[in-house]
Amino acid sequence: MRPQILRHISGRTSTVQASNDVLTMRTPTPEDGHQVWQLIRDCEPLDRNSMYCNVLQCDHFAETCVVAEKDGEVVGWVSAYIVPSDPDTLFVWQVAVSDKARGMGVAKKMLHELVSRDCCKDVTGLKTTITKDNEASWALFNAFADRMDAPLDSDAHYVRDDHFDGRHATEHMVTIAPFGARKSAAA
Ligand SMILES: CC(C)(COP(=O)(O)OP(=O)(O)OC[C@H]1O[C@@H](n2cnc3c(N)ncnc32)[C@H](O)[C@@H]1OP(=O)(O)O)[C@@H](O)C(=O)NCCC(=O)NCCS
Repeated sequence: MRPQILRHISGRTSTVQASNDVLTMRTPTPEDGHQVWQLIRDCEPLDRNSMYCNVLQCDHFAETCVVAEKDGEVVGWVSAYIVPSDPDTLFVWQVAVSDKARGMGVAKKMLHELVSRDCCKDVTGLKTTITKDNEASWALFNAFADRMDAPLDSDAHYVRDDHFDGRHATEHMVTIAPFGARKSAAA
């Protein structure tokens, strides 16, 4: 069943209800880092980071990261940051949703929660990288682009042999920008 957003949005926290299950979306705290680390390990094909990396994301990058929680358990995660050399652009590093919460729009809602935050008020576009074979990720970001009325472009960017010493599939840079462009083109 599709979750419905309850009208409970208070700064750092928004609540989403899917049938009897209540999902809370919020900015992370450093204490979430170890659960985020475990969630990412459970969400192949995501690259596994060190637990220390996830604790730092939950601390220094908390404003641009999202935790989705159900019954006190972290079931969703988005890590992102505003690109230092391009403050109009939000770069999404990883999106993870636990098996038990998939197919309910959680990932899409976390992205929307993120771009609606005050810290993203000057953001006009989103970038992320996706490997060619990650169908779920392409579907998620295509759906997000539609919802933002923005065009989606992609190009091979971090290349297997040039950047990863042949040990990682090529990452395609996906650019969804500018938000609202399609709507204004149609107006
Ligand atoms: C990708 C992932 C985050 C999607 O989470 P989710 O909460 O199930 O996604 P949503 O329910 O918000 O779906 C968003 C859109 O993607 C589509 N989608 C989701 N999973 C899909 C799949 N496996 N295959 C095809 N389409 C899929 C949905 O139909 C929806 O499209 P729509 O709005 O046009 O109907 C989740 O499957 C996951 O954690 N995968 C493993 C980690 C990963 O690959 N992360 C992405 C790379 S950073």
